[in-house]
Amino acid sequence: MISSIVNTLVVLAALIPAYKNPKLPVEERVNDLLGRMTLEEKVMQLSQSYMERNDNTNNIAKQLDRTPAEIGSMINYGWDASVTNALQKRAMEESRLGIPIIFGYDAIHGFRTEFPLPLAQAASFNTDMARESCKVIAAEGYAGGIDWTFSPMIDIARDARWGRNAEGYGEDPYLTSRFCVAAVEGYQGDDMSKPGHLASCMKHYTGYGASEAGRDYTAVDISRQTLWDTWLQPYIAGVKAGSASVMSAFCTLSGIPASADPYILKEALKKKMNFDGFIVTDWGTTEQLMLQGYASSEKEAAKMALNAGIDMDMCDMVFYRNLKALVESGEVSMADVDDAVRRILRVKFRLGLFEHPYRPKTNPKKDYLQPASLELAEKLASECAVLLKNNAGALPLSKKAKVALIGPLADAAEEYLGCWKAHGFPEDLTSIYAAMSKEFSNVQYEKGCDFEGEDRSGFPKAVKLAGESDVVVLCIGEKAVWTGENKTRASIALPRIQEDLLCELKKTGKPVVVLVGSGRAIDLVRIEPMADALMEIWHLGDREGEAVSGLLCGRYNPSGKLPVTFPYTTGQVPIYYNARNICRRGKWGKYTDGTPLEPKYPFGYGLSYSSFEYSPIELDGLTAKVRVTNTSAVDGKESVLWFITDSYCSRVARPVKELKYFEKRLIKAGTTEVFTFELDKLRDLGFIDGNGERFFEPGEFIIRAGNRELKTEIK
Ligand code: GLC
Repeated sequence: MISSIVNTLVVLAALIPAYKNPKLPVEERVNDLLGRMTLEEKVMQLSQSYMERNDNTNNIAKQLDRTPAEIGSMINYGWDASVTNALQKRAMEESRLGIPIIFGYDAIHGFRTEFPLPLAQAASFNTDMARESCKVIAAEGYAGGIDWTFSPMIDIARDARWGRNAEGYGEDPYLTSRFCVAAVEGYQGDDMSKPGHLASCMKHYTGYGASEAGRDYTAVDISRQTLWDTWLQPYIAGVKAGSASVMSAFCTLSGIPASADPYILKEALKKKMNFDGFIVTDWGTTEQLMLQGYASSEKEAAKMALNAGIDMDMCDMVFYRNLKALVESGEVSMADVDDAVRRILRVKFRLGLFEHPYRPKTNPKKDYLQPASLELAEKLASECAVLLKNNAGALPLSKKAKVALIGPLADAAEEYLGCWKAHGFPEDLTSIYAAMSKEFSNVQYEKGCDFEGEDRSGFPKAVKLAGESDVVVLCIGEKAVWTGENKTRASIALPRIQEDLLCELKKTGKPVVVLVGSGRAIDLVRIEPMADALMEIWHLGDREGEAVSGLLCGRYNPSGKLPVTFPYTTGQVPIYYNARNICRRGKWGKYTDGTPLEPKYPFGYGLSYSSFEYSPIELDGLTAKVRVTNTSAVDGKESVLWFITDSYCSRVARPVKELKYFEKRLIKAGTTEVFTFELDKLRDLGFIDGNGERFFEPGEFIIRAGNRELKTEIK
């Protein structure tokens, strides 16, 4: 009896295709499935289509008609899983092999609960909180029917004119690497097949942030040396962290389109970094190879992209229309197509999509905007703000102060969501005005002016209110739509009307606290002298209002530090701290119009309501220590940033200093914390050459933390 059952089970097991057996290793399932696929089915896996933004269960029939059941991926703009479940059901049940679709979407700082901009999060230097926010994004996105987020965006940005500064983590490769790893870990967890996880997608590969003059989509010229020592650093970290995918960039990179460059795609990423996920293009970049004057036809474009190492083609269906013929003509090898398919299937298996292709019915009340998520959003927002000036302790304010709250950003919740706001809605937010009205006993509001334009008719009322108050809080800055993709600004100064409003308010003689909300570094050179206190508050998401109110009254103590250099003027751009030495000193290399070489505020700058004193750095072997004392009466968090300088390097001239480690901790009033940096010679004192090889060269090094530095010889 038993033997017949066993025999039956053995027979049944043999009938189940290996790729459908979750007990088998992923690679075995991938190879089994690949071996069963026709060329047409393979080409479909390399193709991504998209749903309309208003697709819902009522009009899904149209979407179903429009989309082949065998499509490999779709961009899903919805947040109700019933729509993706319907498409997935067709893929699983009506396609010959039942390969699930992978649904992607741009949830870069929130899916439904919006967290601060990535640039703002970088200012927090709190990667633990950033990781937690990505866990929330993953849980909400999973509930909403996506499997894959096009995040983290890890473009190094050194040009504040570029609108996409907002989406990344600033100018430093190490800081960006740390937040990249935090995001990958937050989205994917230790096993992304578990419910509530998403595949991550590091983007835009690569060099996109070096777009000439900050103009979007333009050419980029980067040497192999800079490619490796700057732009590829976050990808090396993210690949090690197991990121599932990479998105190739729009720009040409030293003459070769990044989305068809075999060196960066195959040599650097897939071979040298040993990346085993897949590469998806950015939107339409295969088709755009023709606009870039690189491909003479769509067919040529498909061939160039696939042969260069692209695995999936985003939304222009160029692979879909051309790859079959290219393989049949031998211009594209089946081996290359198979490698691309293998990479995509590997991620789908690792995501558990074959076992769990569907999502439970979306329940917005349970799945989104949970109290714990909103609390995290507020706490993280409170750590992103950067206090730039606080004369005579203008801040924090007494809750009993008579506050004149003025400015276009004071009651504008829609702006707090920032760019790429996904499914964040202003009605979920409390404005700074509304939040302060709850926390302070006497707040009066006047808008004063709009973000831009010449209408100064609101000035008199604002000035009158200021004159009747104890203190002015002026909220100025950028609209959300001034930042993000295709949002380059030729000047990083705020519109004149905002500065003029400040000037009129200053004339009242009242103390003025200026809050600047932006998605990039702003020219503050005329604003700062008129401010008694000045704070960069970025665009902080769903809980900006509560966080800012808390920062103003001292419920939160500002702890942010700048992740980007704030230039003195647009004319200094691009400007960044980790530049290389110039060949002369003193009078040489200056601007002849009196503009200083130094920025208005440097990378890593930020004040607190506390005051921190750094001890001299001690070095025991390769263990560096510094004692940080909070000499104030206010508990505060401090991020200790460790920089190293290799004073002389014969292999390649290195940056004047490089961030190599940071750690953020609460230091209670009057107490001291010891911060330790365990230096690794190759990792922290070494460098990388233009072939991607790390090296260490003995010699003089300078180690810096806070206002302290230690010069030492390291053998
Ligand atoms: C856009 C962006 C990219 C985004 C993609 C899908 O053009 O460049 O960041 O992930 O298209 O929306």
